[in-house]
Amino acid sequence: MSSGKFITFEGGECCGKSTQVKLLREALEKEGVEVVLTREPGGTWLSEQIRTLIKDQDEDAPCDRAELLLFLAARAQLVKNVIKPALARGAWVISDRFSDSTLAYQGYGRGLSLEVISIANDFACEGLKPDLTILLSVDPSVASSRMIGRTAATKVPEDRIERAGGEFHSRLRRGFAEIANAEPWRVVTVDANGTPEKVWEEVWTSLKRIR
Ligand code: TMP
Repeated sequence: MSSGKFITFEGGECCGKSTQVKLLREALEKEGVEVVLTREPGGTWLSEQIRTLIKDQDEDAPCDRAELLLFLAARAQLVKNVIKPALARGAWVISDRFSDSTLAYQGYGRGLSLEVISIANDFACEGLKPDLTILLSVDPSVASSRMIGRTAATKVPEDRIERAGGEFHSRLRRGFAEIANAEPWRVVTVDANGTPEKVWEEVWTSLKRIR
């Protein structure tokens, strides 16, 4: 049985997860909590290799089913080697994306079976579920102007999934909303259209549920 807490951040592209993850880590550490920060796909050597294969591989890019299995392989490694041991010693784990992204992107977005994804995902993460999921909800117009700003500032082009198209991104937006409706005791939806400071206020308030 784990004694730590497991918090995940979810949302579409450019919803501001990374900023909120960092703010939460700082706030918890100030209170003396041991925090383990991770991201998906990633967080272990193997999972980071898989991240590169999934996001940046344009030649012989993974087909939809291969993409799903790669995400799950990355997750299995992360859960076993990082998340479960950290929870067992009482740390709080914050993950930038987790299982809900697979349901939203590969299920609602790519159109793979939600049932198959749920079963395979449970297998990959040995049934582990977050104690709290913060879904950052951002309007498509705000996300796309953030994306343009990011690309101009960093000169890093959009990756394979970010380029998937407007229809794909509206399907996954609907997917995230349905996931939140189905499990209101776990998922809190935060309006992420405002400034990082405004969003942070809501994120911090939502932590009351598990403290
Ligand atoms: P990000 O960490 O910059 O958000 O990049 C991760 C990308 O991978 C993002 O486009 C969402 C996508 N993704 C999936 O499609 N399925 C998944 O299960 C996960 C964890 C991420």
